[in-house]
Amino acid sequence: MEKLLVFISLIYQANALVRPDGVGRLPALGWSSWNAYECDINASVILSAAEQVVELGLKDLSYEYINIDDCWSVKTHRDPTTNRMIPDPERFPGGIAGVASQIHDLGLKVGIYSSAGETTCAGYPASLGYEDIDAETFAEWGIDYLKYDDCGVPSTWADPYTSCIPDTANNAGPFPNGTCPNLANPAPKGYNWDSSPSATRFRRMRDALEAQNQDRVILYSLCNWGNAAVNTWAADVGNSWRVSGDISPGRGEVGAERVRIATWERIAEIANEMSFLVRDYAGFWGWPDADMLEVGNGEGDMTVAENRAHFALWAGMRSPLLIGTRLETIKEEHLAILKNPTLLTFHQDPHTNRPAYPYKWGHNADYTFDAAHPAEYWSGPSAALDGTLVLMLNSENVTSTRTAVWGEVPELRDAQRGHEEGYAFEVVDGWTGEEFGCVEGGLEVELEAHDMAVLVVGGAC
Ligand SMILES: *[C@@H]1O[C@H](CO)[C@@H](O)[C@H](O)[C@H]1NC(C)=O
Ligand SMILES: *[C@@H]1O[C@H](CO)[C@@H](O)[C@H](O)[C@H]1NC(C)=O
Ligand SMILES: *[C@@H]1O[C@H](CO)[C@@H](O)[C@H](O)[C@H]1NC(C)=O
Repeated sequence: MEKLLVFISLIYQANALVRPDGVGRLPALGWSSWNAYECDINASVILSAAEQVVELGLKDLSYEYINIDDCWSVKTHRDPTTNRMIPDPERFPGGIAGVASQIHDLGLKVGIYSSAGETTCAGYPASLGYEDIDAETFAEWGIDYLKYDDCGVPSTWADPYTSCIPDTANNAGPFPNGTCPNLANPAPKGYNWDSSPSATRFRRMRDALEAQNQDRVILYSLCNWGNAAVNTWAADVGNSWRVSGDISPGRGEVGAERVRIATWERIAEIANEMSFLVRDYAGFWGWPDADMLEVGNGEGDMTVAENRAHFALWAGMRSPLLIGTRLETIKEEHLAILKNPTLLTFHQDPHTNRPAYPYKWGHNADYTFDAAHPAEYWSGPSAALDGTLVLMLNSENVTSTRTAVWGEVPELRDAQRGHEEGYAFEVVDGWTGEEFGCVEGGLEVELEAHDMAVLVVGGAC
């Protein structure tokens, strides 16, 4: 019996991208420049974000990566002699190595961005064909994290088929059996996406980064937006992989101001897609990535309740949590969401190898694909919380109640078996820390439109 268990765990490890020093074992926590600044970045923007992460107490809560997204290099060319990318000398006068060293001095880590194509999404030099030299350069600069995008792909590297990304109503599942009814040019049955041109491009950079492990371990974050059936092959290629397109279309005008567009509709779409994925694909060393956070963005578009639900869903799914807002001007109520200790503890639990996933859909029948009304009832065990996390979403646009029934929650059902009246459990409100005490049978919570309850259900009582 014991031998069998060892054997199984070896198989599991062979399919995961196990890195030295535990890098990538847990989903990443940090900040990224894109959602807040897009291309308007420079050394002071990046350093100031790092300083804010320290000053606001986020570092103490394990936020650690400060990620420089697209637009950091000279746009027109590589160094003609070394073939290396060149940090933009005006934006980064001390180079990327200079910023990296200052970020390291703050006790934080630093991320960089490139693409598995000839150019990045904003048209800067990218790494296809230069994987080794770029990985070596990043390692030398002191980089700890690489976000690897999917822009600038030449036609010679295009995939022969499209795969199913069941994120919007147009692409509606059913999932996970993998059929997108409206898909143009689907792969024939049995097509092996693991050897597709996409998988090959992303694997090349994995190998280049692995070759640097002696000098520098760089977390590898894939960003091919769910293409090429990435969930089926990414676990041994990257430590996380994006499952879908961007969380928001970018920036727009509100009055005279240029602001980030972030909407609940897109949050719900991604949560709906993830609800069908995380059970099968999330675990240590490999995490489906729902995209960077919009908490604090979408001025006028997202209520505080929606910000709360967005964060609770992302933390519960154990997606990487990369703050995407300007920390200098963040509102207290948004900061409090990002600092929620219950959700962060669940997200970073070193002992529990799974996320929360739906135990009931609620608004819809179970397993219904509905981009506007994702699964509402989620649960997951947590050694770090010494209990079960129960999340309840009100996906409707009016105030409504949701009830956690202990007998419906898989993690609690066993404890309850044989007790006709149902067991009682110690329950704490994960948002406020308020103790509900010993609660019998279940708990009803009133929720604003698009708000989410967070309950920590502890020992039987
Ligand atoms: C850096 O970028 C920020 C935001 O785009 C800008 O306000 C600031 O003036 C820039 N600083 C330097 C030194 O270029
Ligand atoms: C996929 O799953 C859905 C819902 O479970 C089911 O209705 C459909 O027949 C399945 N399709 C295939 C091809 O298995
Ligand atoms: C609220 O939801 C209902 C039912 O789904 C819909 O008919 C209505 O347009 C929505 N209202 C708003 C303000 O979004």
